[in-house]
Amino acid sequence: MAGGLARLTDELGILYGGDYNPEQWDREVWREDVALMREAGVNLVTVGVFSWSHLEPRPGEYRFAWLDEVLDLLHDAGIAVDLATPVASPPPWLGHRHPESLPTTADGTVLSYGSRNQFCPSSDAYRTAAVAIAEQVAARYARHPAVRMWHAGNEYGQVCFCDRCAERFRDWLRARYGTLDDLNAAWATAVWSQEYGDWAEILPPRVAPYHHNPAQELDFRRFGSDLLLDLYREQKAVVRRHDRDRPVTTNLMGFFGGIDPHDWRADLDVVADDAYPDPASPDAAADAALVNHLARGLAGGGSWLRMEQAASAVSWREHNLTKSPERLRTEVLQALAHGCDGALFFQWRQARSGPERFHSAMLPVAGADTAVHQGVRSLGAELRALRGLVGEPVHRRVALLWDWTSWWAATQVALPTARLDPLATLQAWHRELWRLGVVADVVPADRADVALHDYDLVLAPAQYVLDNDSAARLDAYVAGGGHLVWGPFGGVADGLSHLHAGRSPAPLRHVLGVSAEEWVPLPDGGSAVAWSGAGVEGLRGTAATLGERTRSDGADVLATYDDGPLAGCVAVARHAHGSGRTWYVGTALAGPAGGLGDVLRAALDDAGVPLGGQGPGVETVWRGGVLVAINHADRAATLDLAAARAVGPAAVRDATVPTDVPTDVLTDLLTGARHDGSATLPLAPYDVVVLATGRP
Ligand code: GLA
Ligand code: ZN
Repeated sequence: MAGGLARLTDELGILYGGDYNPEQWDREVWREDVALMREAGVNLVTVGVFSWSHLEPRPGEYRFAWLDEVLDLLHDAGIAVDLATPVASPPPWLGHRHPESLPTTADGTVLSYGSRNQFCPSSDAYRTAAVAIAEQVAARYARHPAVRMWHAGNEYGQVCFCDRCAERFRDWLRARYGTLDDLNAAWATAVWSQEYGDWAEILPPRVAPYHHNPAQELDFRRFGSDLLLDLYREQKAVVRRHDRDRPVTTNLMGFFGGIDPHDWRADLDVVADDAYPDPASPDAAADAALVNHLARGLAGGGSWLRMEQAASAVSWREHNLTKSPERLRTEVLQALAHGCDGALFFQWRQARSGPERFHSAMLPVAGADTAVHQGVRSLGAELRALRGLVGEPVHRRVALLWDWTSWWAATQVALPTARLDPLATLQAWHRELWRLGVVADVVPADRADVALHDYDLVLAPAQYVLDNDSAARLDAYVAGGGHLVWGPFGGVADGLSHLHAGRSPAPLRHVLGVSAEEWVPLPDGGSAVAWSGAGVEGLRGTAATLGERTRSDGADVLATYDDGPLAGCVAVARHAHGSGRTWYVGTALAGPAGGLGDVLRAALDDAGVPLGGQGPGVETVWRGGVLVAINHADRAATLDLAAARAVGPAAVRDATVPTDVPTDVLTDLLTGARHDGSATLPLAPYDVVVLATGRP
């Protein structure tokens, strides 16, 4: 159901709140919670995610009075509820009575209860019990006025290698391949004497003496994602029997490898994502942006919801840095700029007990008289003032290609190098874009429903897998006038991890005008790269990790390797194809001059995409007619409004917004201050300004 999020935000404005776990507290605390939530501007809480044992202490014995009371309390206070089906953490009785409901690891270890998430996704006992408790919850609360959204499970990601999962895997393979002959062909089981003569012989990739069959591994990943999707659908179907229209969702985890979210998005009424940027990372702001761009890509370019984040520290890293309220504010408003229409947290009240007792919350264990909570309150007030941004489109003209098949396949064992991490490559390319002030959607190459033509420039930093259909779409995109930048070790394999035959990237070499015959890991220290093409002479760069023995088949050579095993081969090239243009970057390219940033800048220029960079750490994003400028750095900066307006949407650039306030005047939505459109504004460390063109 499209528009699931709009149903909430139309009524509530920007969503603000978090996971609320009242089962951990007594009644007096609930009352205090609700009062403090109101003061903090909380309008939505997620209830019941881990409440199964509290709702059903023994099989079939239900205890709902406490939840009735909590939902009534919240409703009386005007706080809406995202109600969970509490199936992420089964109670001990399930594992005790049905040990086969517990998950088994690849080495045969059965995982115990006493933690959370301990279920085998194929277990009938688990599924029956999960459907039963969901049925009870949905039947009882479908008409409760507090409930506005449903939250099935939590962060689906379980993997199991048990016999029952093996059976289910075989069913999945039968449906995919039909016959054993076809499966044997697809998996190339003639390699290493793996030909299957009976379906019963096929297993998940359990611990084995040496490397697994890569095609089998990839199919097991797909199967695992589909199996969890079945579970989610089962839960959603239960809810739908009682509530035909309120949105149902579950929380995704950004770049989490366990499920392919592109297969899930049609079943998610709201794209909801959990994110915990590491405050210790110097690239935290850029990488957080990338996660937001993925969520927006999944939402088809529309609005999405941050379902969970930390108000300050998490407790699951080795060393958990805290986050100042100012820094938290930059993260929340950054997400808002990137199309997020709600800021929810894990969790409302910090736990005093259990493994997450040191995890921060909107209300710390030290109480309301704390910097964290006061920051949460002022942020709540600011979000109310920014309601006008809800549903507004994010201005972007660039796409970054990224799909799970490629990620899974490029992280298998026995590659030319284990050091070319595809996610690190994606992040490295995106960090350059971020520094250049360019916002990009993260979209999959392997789905036909992505409208590449909506983008002026498409970047493929780590497209290891490229099937023929995806290659044909990229070909048509470029031929029709699109611009494509192609990264290293791309188009190497098909969707089953088999290498394409012929010079690489076989399905796309005619589009790129180059071809490679060998993948060549580079010595530590890398190789020098000399730039020689028109306009780039004299630049110097370094190629790291891996290059390709590439020649030009008609492309203009911009840079070649100067030394090392690839001396004389093409490192960077540009090619005209149809009415469009391609750039080939065959290695991990570092600066200072002649690095990746230089290539991307040239490609952006070529594609007519303006750069919005405002200096180190300053990010500017246009959402609708609103400019969000964020100083992510711990030092003062400035914002050049004329430059920021020049890269905004055409309506802003052309000053055609119909309004009685001239578009060259911007109004600060948080302070009411007006600024001349050519002013330069000071930005304090970690400051954010939200400026509307025209009448706010
Ligand atoms: C995820 C989970 C939460 C909680 C947080 C801690 O978001 O969904 O239940 O464990 O991590 O960061
Ligand atoms: Zn299992």
